[in-house]
Amino acid sequence: MKKSLLLDALHCRNSGRPPVWLMRQAGRYMPEYRALRSKYSFLQMCHEPEIAAEVTLLPIRSFGMDAAILFSDILVVAEAFDLGLRFDEGAGPIIERPLSSPEDVEALSKVDVSQSFGFVEKAIQMLLPSLSVPLIGFCGAPFTVASYMIEGKTSRDLRKTKEWMMRDPASFHKLLNIIADASIAYLTMQVKAGVHAVQIFDSWANVLSHAHFRKFSLSYMEKIIKGISQHQIPVILFCRGSSVFAPLLSEIIPSAISLDWNVDIAHMRRHLPAGIALQGNLDPDILRAPHNIIRKEVLRLLDDMRGDPGYIFNLGHGIHPDISPDAVKTLVAAVQER
Ligand code: CP3
Repeated sequence: MKKSLLLDALHCRNSGRPPVWLMRQAGRYMPEYRALRSKYSFLQMCHEPEIAAEVTLLPIRSFGMDAAILFSDILVVAEAFDLGLRFDEGAGPIIERPLSSPEDVEALSKVDVSQSFGFVEKAIQMLLPSLSVPLIGFCGAPFTVASYMIEGKTSRDLRKTKEWMMRDPASFHKLLNIIADASIAYLTMQVKAGVHAVQIFDSWANVLSHAHFRKFSLSYMEKIIKGISQHQIPVILFCRGSSVFAPLLSEIIPSAISLDWNVDIAHMRRHLPAGIALQGNLDPDILRAPHNIIRKEVLRLLDDMRGDPGYIFNLGHGIHPDISPDAVKTLVAAVQER
């Protein structure tokens, strides 16, 4: 990758317009995605390198974002532990054999997942020759992945996970360590295959107190950052609740922090270390507004961050599946006209 707005911004040295990409940019809001999805299950699409590569490219071809994000899922790591992963229509992810005891965690420690991600490696290798923008790889944060392995499905309050964390922190830490090690192996493979940056998704961090976030989530993201540091790959941290946790996230010195839409990003800029790039933070529901409003909100954010060498335009979280592709087109064009 010779010259790239995204990589420049991740190193806080972008003198051009801000780069733009969107979380969940390769997904159900695109008719081309739904057409493919009518023929295959979601997991088949992840497992088949040609399809995963094709889906990764769909939004780049249609809207010209400045970065691609690999089409896959954070739960392929849980799948590698042989807990049985499936995605039910309308119900989201299901782990067929969720963890329920310290003995289950002991059994996990004996599984070697390092050879389980060949399909992702192939998808990356197939993609790179067709891409003129950087490719972002990713994994889930250990806390978020652990929550799916314990709850067995998406849960709003993570009751079982937090109960385990409160009652038996030792075995919960053991589980987080096992997932962090698997995530290091998974990201190392992605980096060796050629991704240009990685993002760690901590989608359920928002259920944790400040002190518990530090202990049960931040420290494991730090372990991952240190575990891949010899490859010198930029790392973006995303967590739900980042408007509260951003100062903590900055302590482990990621390349960038992805902010949710509750915070004034310009205010955050003034309070976080200058060497850390900021990504975000448009409310994803702005994409439901009339197009002149979408443009106005995009321009407002661009004005707030004008001249910032480490700013990456994105949403505060993923695109909703019912958003119109035309709204996405308007957003990307508004950033790129600058
Ligand atoms: O951003 C991208 O375009 C890259 C691909 C990507 C997907 N999932 C594709 C996907 C990424 C980066 C993810 C990450 C992911 N997966 C997270 C963290 C980010 C976040 O949104 O908080 C989480 C928590 C998951 C777990 C997961 N995968 C859930 C909860 C769901 C179901 C959502 C729902 O509404 O049904 C998925 C499925 C999923 N992952 C889809 C896509 C495109 C939809 C699958 C389908 O076609 O039915």
